[in-house]
Amino acid sequence: MPKWLPLQKLLQLRLTTCLSITLCIVAIIQFFASYGYYNYDHLDQESLRHHLYAKRNPNLITKLKPECRYNDILQSSKTVGSSKIPRNHYDFLSNGIMNGSYSPEDCTPLFSVAILVTYRNRQSQLDIFIPYIHNFLRKQNIHYKIYIIEQQDDKLWNKGLLYNIGAKQAILDKFPCLILHDIDLLPLDDSNLYACLNHPRHMSASIDKFRFVLIYKTLVGGVLSIRSDQYKELNGFSNKFQGWGGEDDDFAERISKHNLEILRFPPHMSRYTMLQHKQEHKNEDRHRIMEENKRNSQNDGLNSIHYEMINIKNHRLFTMIGVRL
Ligand code: BGC
Ligand code: MN
Repeated sequence: MPKWLPLQKLLQLRLTTCLSITLCIVAIIQFFASYGYYNYDHLDQESLRHHLYAKRNPNLITKLKPECRYNDILQSSKTVGSSKIPRNHYDFLSNGIMNGSYSPEDCTPLFSVAILVTYRNRQSQLDIFIPYIHNFLRKQNIHYKIYIIEQQDDKLWNKGLLYNIGAKQAILDKFPCLILHDIDLLPLDDSNLYACLNHPRHMSASIDKFRFVLIYKTLVGGVLSIRSDQYKELNGFSNKFQGWGGEDDDFAERISKHNLEILRFPPHMSRYTMLQHKQEHKNEDRHRIMEENKRNSQNDGLNSIHYEMINIKNHRLFTMIGVRL
């Protein structure tokens, strides 16, 4: 055996070890430096009530009751861990809920909110989401109604169009505030008040699936609140995004074009857990459509929705709008 072989082996080993260590360090730095914001720009917890958009649905019958209070909710530190979320709700009580709607019994709410949830073929998530969100929202002293907008065809998924359909109905029903809500997201913090602010609010800034960081600053997907008049002003969502992704980024573009801001509550009030599901098929065209829409969005949105209404069904826990696109 030649003499130099062990020495060469040792050197080789050193070289590969050094290389791997360097690579690991670079990867760790990359991971933490370039992927997401732990502490994104947000409103101060103390100033939140000045930003709230207090408006009731004129159809809500209000008896002589004191105005509801929201300070305790906004200051609440009650939170639930992702792993503690109940997976079944056999003991769920539907007290006070009718057609997906609820209003507090002993005070007059300041806010009326339509929760819009787009849906197709996710029964097991619906079964977890609906009771959970009712239990969460009934503690918030707000008037709310849950709309599930179901795409009842086999065409490509079109979330933007479904939101436009839901928004149209909620606006007809005179809701002044819309909350656009993914069915797989469950709020963890009691202080995350489901009400509109004077600007759109990205409510799900801190999701466990994304290690509780905001993955990019213009993200508005997940859960977003927006005043109904502002939704109309933006002409809602683009109807052109088919398949997964992009419609929310396009909506963020519309928000900034109309000089509205994207506001957020602090991270400790904006935590959500995401129910697991397989990744949907991505729309490869989404960046191209976004570019195209930057030049023209006036004729694509709430004012240009084509669909076939199948039915509006009032279930006790939600109102289901069934459509074919
Ligand atoms: C998609 C968005 C999505 C975001 C986070 C982006 O690439 O275009 O629609 O909300 O990723 O998953
Ligand atoms: Mn999802």
